[in-house]
Amino acid sequence: MEPAYVRYGGLRRGKGDKFMKLTLDLVKKNSAINVFIKQTEKYLDALGYTDHGFRHVNIVSDRARSLAKQIGLSAKEQELAAIAAYCHDMGNFLGRSQHHYQGAVLFSQIFMDGCDSPEDISVVMQAIVSHDKDELKLVNKVSAILILADKSDVHRTRVKNKSLDKIKNDIHDRVNYSVTQNDLELNRAKKEISLRLKIDTKITNPVEYFEIFIGRMTFCRQAAQYLGYKFVLIINNFKLS
Ligand SMILES: [Fe+2]
Ligand SMILES: [Fe+2]
Repeated sequence: MEPAYVRYGGLRRGKGDKFMKLTLDLVKKNSAINVFIKQTEKYLDALGYTDHGFRHVNIVSDRARSLAKQIGLSAKEQELAAIAAYCHDMGNFLGRSQHHYQGAVLFSQIFMDGCDSPEDISVVMQAIVSHDKDELKLVNKVSAILILADKSDVHRTRVKNKSLDKIKNDIHDRVNYSVTQNDLELNRAKKEISLRLKIDTKITNPVEYFEIFIGRMTFCRQAAQYLGYKFVLIINNFKLS
């Protein structure tokens, strides 16, 4: 006898139910997604990393949606950007170095069979993979939005272990801890996307910031260019472009 409900890639659907529309709400309610984010937080806490859990993914998701809207992407692309951002780091619990690939595959395993648009799934997968891929080749705007939203989340509140010793000895913690404000701004007239940071120079200096973030800034420049914008970094009112 056939069961009343079939488990389609983690989505419970009744026999004859229509395929579901992929929304952030659906993703946030999925228990597997929540477990992967929780496990990621636990794993990276054990390794002494900065926050990659719910704080980070919610900030990145809100920021991705807002940037996608400001730039004039469609309502569907805004939704996909928010979804990709929410799920972009959830593969970390399986290991840091390939977390972007792992996250994308996990995402498709959960949603591919139950959702109405395999194309939407593929866009989210590409965005998740692209957010940390060495040989970056952008082919959709959702990926570019996610990169800018993710890389701009550098902030004091991302530091998990606030002991002065740890901050003194860990350059990632030190640089994040030094950032007291970060704003991602879009200027349509000037065609510029700016990341404006306020850094406490008693904790670190801009040189140390660059030591860590040069790779991220290169990603941001490529992402902004793909969207037809110029990326500008402003540290303590000093503009670098
Ligand atoms: Fe990541
Ligand atoms: Fe991230």
